[in-house]
Amino acid sequence: MQKKAIVTGGAGFIGSHMVECLLNEGYSVIAIDDMSNGQQENIDLFKDNPNYTFLKIDLSKEFDDTIFKNATYIFHMAALADIVPSVENPINYHNANVKKWFSVHLHPAMAFLINIPLLKMQKCVHNILMLSQS
Ligand SMILES: NC(=O)c1ccc[n+]([C@@H]2O[C@H](COP(=O)([O-])OP(=O)(O)OC[C@H]3O[C@@H](n4cnc5c(N)ncnc54)[C@H](O)[C@@H]3O)[C@@H](O)[C@H]2O)c1
Repeated sequence: MQKKAIVTGGAGFIGSHMVECLLNEGYSVIAIDDMSNGQQENIDLFKDNPNYTFLKIDLSKEFDDTIFKNATYIFHMAALADIVPSVENPINYHNANVKKWFSVHLHPAMAFLINIPLLKMQKCVHNILMLSQS
């Protein structure tokens, strides 16, 4: 059976590259983003791929967590990511990036994270690190 991966923040910079890597690895990918900072072109890139699904969801609010069912991996990239505003308003960032994410972090599907086949994913992570350093 095809493995399912979920990428939160899938329309963002890091998340969209993770989506691309996972699709190339043959995963069925669900990208979740509230589009607060997501880019439409990061969705349009994959919209013709039958293994790609985009869901516009604000993860800080109530949402139907059955979408996580049968997910092999959840890559949690949704965040407030700009550095300067995080210094100017640390409480906002703490609330958004730490407090509000417990529903995602504590979801049973997250337990699968410990099963990440590191070698197989190494290429994706390496590529993403190279992108974020360039
Ligand atoms: N870009 C880098 O160089 C870099 C380097 C190291 C670590 N990171 C980390 O990687 C993560 C992603 O960074 P990025 O550069 O891709 O940022 P980004 O802003 O491009 O992507 C984050 C995505 O999360 C989405 N999002 C925010 N709040 C959400 C919510 N409540 N529900 C659903 N989606 C939501 C945004 O719309 C956005 O598309 C962050 O944790 C960041 O700190 C980034």
